[in-house]
Amino acid sequence: MKISVVGTGYVGLVTGVTLSDIGHTVTCIDIDNEKIQKMKKGISPIYEPGLDELMSKNIKNKRLYFTNDSSEGFREQEVIYIAVGTPEADNGSADLEFIEKVAIDIAKNLKKDAIVVTKSTVPVGTNEKIQELINLNKDSAIKVEVVSNPEFLKEGSAINDSFNGERIVVGSNSIRAAKVIEKINEPFNIPVFKTDIRSAEMIKYASNAFLATKISYINEVANICSRVGANVEDVSNGMGLDSRIGSEFLNAGIGYGGSCFPKDTKALIHLAGLHNNNFDLLREVVKVNNNQQSIIVDKLIDRLSSINGKKIAVLGLSFKPNTDDMRDAPSLKVIETLLKYNANVIAYDPIAINNAKKVLKHKVLFTESIEEAIDKSDATLILTEWNEVKNIDLKLFSKMNYPLVIDGRNCFDLEKMRYENIEYHSIGRPPIMQSSECIVVQ
Ligand code: UDX
Repeated sequence: MKISVVGTGYVGLVTGVTLSDIGHTVTCIDIDNEKIQKMKKGISPIYEPGLDELMSKNIKNKRLYFTNDSSEGFREQEVIYIAVGTPEADNGSADLEFIEKVAIDIAKNLKKDAIVVTKSTVPVGTNEKIQELINLNKDSAIKVEVVSNPEFLKEGSAINDSFNGERIVVGSNSIRAAKVIEKINEPFNIPVFKTDIRSAEMIKYASNAFLATKISYINEVANICSRVGANVEDVSNGMGLDSRIGSEFLNAGIGYGGSCFPKDTKALIHLAGLHNNNFDLLREVVKVNNNQQSIIVDKLIDRLSSINGKKIAVLGLSFKPNTDDMRDAPSLKVIETLLKYNANVIAYDPIAINNAKKVLKHKVLFTESIEEAIDKSDATLILTEWNEVKNIDLKLFSKMNYPLVIDGRNCFDLEKMRYENIEYHSIGRPPIMQSSECIVVQ
């Protein structure tokens, strides 16, 4: 099939590259020419494990092309995927400006019948609006059908998720169009769930909001565990053994971030509000998430009395490991608070430093290694569970002025920290104090 994908952000690029890898001829379109020139050479604008290799392979096999000329990209295609951003508007809704522009652009350039597939996360009813916009602007002799095909890829494992996903959702009011999209995806060998267009749009929001709910739930459970002397790791493992609950997304921490959960939860609350539903449950999920970062800063201030002028090492900046994405990263909120209290923040991240610098500018000192960050620091905060952080030689913490480690991602084994005589506070687990202080378990 001849396919084009509009928008080469993380969703669009991964979609384009993986569709080319299963045998389709794919043209990725973006208005950013500098990015296009890089991608033509097989250089990915985002850090995503395995993506560069797949790009180079499919460019070489002449199945993957890049252009900034939308008329070229839309003219001959049988199927066009829309994967442009739907950022959060001031009122929490999804901003559809880019989607609408693309729909008009497609309509004006099409020279033959086509199916338009929406990958972007869009509120219920948007695909119908896209259809209307296209109908209004296209040549009347051309037939266009719209399909909602939301993505469920996780950053950092998007390539793996594309080939091993658990479902492909295809929503359309046209049986024929749905069948074409099912056929396109056949080589992935992933079950296809077909439904109407509005339900498909809703599945995406409901799924992300549910996962966010699971995270806020376990974070609240963790907060209670710390008070009652239980260990949230064991609690979530014990809960997860029940297949009705499931073990995934029950890792307590400093809250969810990234380009999806924060934005999609708010957009669903907004959508519910438009239909006179307050969605109190989801509002609480967001509230719990917004408070979760303060736990580790409060603990830090509690332990050091004041952090004014203290050297605080921060390990991990991206919103989760294996990505350089800083969008809505919990680390930003933590660092903002540290700076407000006049701490000297020294930060390390294996991949996200360039993106972090764009947001944090010169307010933070960035280092090239974990060792450099924690050397002579007064406390170390762990904000992202990178493998490099989890596998650190614990003896390194002895280079700190005093080995105080506050871990927002539960990276270390409590007994090992006790053995190394490190004062260690994590989320929802008993604190480990240095043996001379004699406080072991609350
Ligand atoms: C998410 C969805 O998983 C994906 O299906 C959707 O299409 C896009 O949004 P992503 O944002 O890439 O993917 O990352 P994900 O792995 O879901 O993690 C989101 C956030 O939740 C991260 O900040 C992560 O640290 C946090 N998280 C996740 C937890 O705090 N605890 C968990 O148990 C799982």
